[in-house]
Amino acid sequence: MSMEEAEYHSKDFEWDELRQEIETDPSMRFHMLPQLDNNSTYTNSSSDCSSPSEESEAWNIFHARHATGKFFKERRYLLKEFPELMSSDEQLNVLEVGCGNGSTALPILSGNKSISVYACDCSSEALERAKEVIEDSSAGSLTNRFHPFIWDFSMNNRFPSCLPSPVDFVTLIFTLSAVPLHRMPTAIASCFSVLKPGGLLLFRDYGLYDMTMLRFGPDKKLGFREYLRSDGTHSYYFCLETARDLFTRAGFDEVELEYCCIKSVNRRNCKTMKRVWIHGKFQKPK
Ligand SMILES: C[S@@+](CC[C@H](N)C(=O)[O-])C[C@H]1O[C@@H](n2cnc3c(N)ncnc32)[C@H](O)[C@@H]1O
Repeated sequence: MSMEEAEYHSKDFEWDELRQEIETDPSMRFHMLPQLDNNSTYTNSSSDCSSPSEESEAWNIFHARHATGKFFKERRYLLKEFPELMSSDEQLNVLEVGCGNGSTALPILSGNKSISVYACDCSSEALERAKEVIEDSSAGSLTNRFHPFIWDFSMNNRFPSCLPSPVDFVTLIFTLSAVPLHRMPTAIASCFSVLKPGGLLLFRDYGLYDMTMLRFGPDKKLGFREYLRSDGTHSYYFCLETARDLFTRAGFDEVELEYCCIKSVNRRNCKTMKRVWIHGKFQKPK
């Protein structure tokens, strides 16, 4: 099975078994503890002092560094995970939040000709990469249905002026984890404000105890389940309860929420990697 196929909804192991394994392993204990401050005492709050502009700059550097097509990975499985994007011939508008290099925007645009994708990112470099990817697509001319704009959705929840009207769908794919936890309520309120009543927010992101979380050392911890990558970008790991709490407090109704647990084998060292993602659909009440 290819990784691409594996990412689609499979369940190779039970998340609760992984949780037990990790939570009883003494070498993993620091992941469960509240944050260590500089005086080596534990606190509950994030010690991260980065500003939104520093975070955007870290993403600018990331996207400039990964400017080649090699890094681009089209998320084709998304249309299987979120079939509602394909289920209608009506003209629909999607807002892809944190569009990066267009990995999510491209399959949506090429999968449904009736959809227009508005795509925002806080990084101007990301938007340049996404424009290139959409312009170069072999799926025909997609540019007239692609509308990129710069927007940091975690700063305030005002309706962005680049959107002509509320949208039918918001896609939030591996973006919320990049926002510091204390700004997530504002970020989700922004998503709520741009959706039509009855509109759906489609969510996929890193799940608690994903292999990439367990690779961080204690020095990379910013807060509880929050980490700083060496390139300065953030990563938060969601459990179902935190995701549920964040979205329902913002006014959303939960439609689907589950872990997606995949085993894949690293070809170089033959080690099994346990990947955990969180998959969710949330609806703005009608
Ligand atoms: C891991 S990439 C995901 C890209 C894309 N959604 C996909 O499916 O591949 C995360 C993106 O979120 C963007 N981002 C991070 N924080 C953001 C914020 N506060 N507002 C808007 N975009 C943000 C980053 O610049 C980056 O391009």
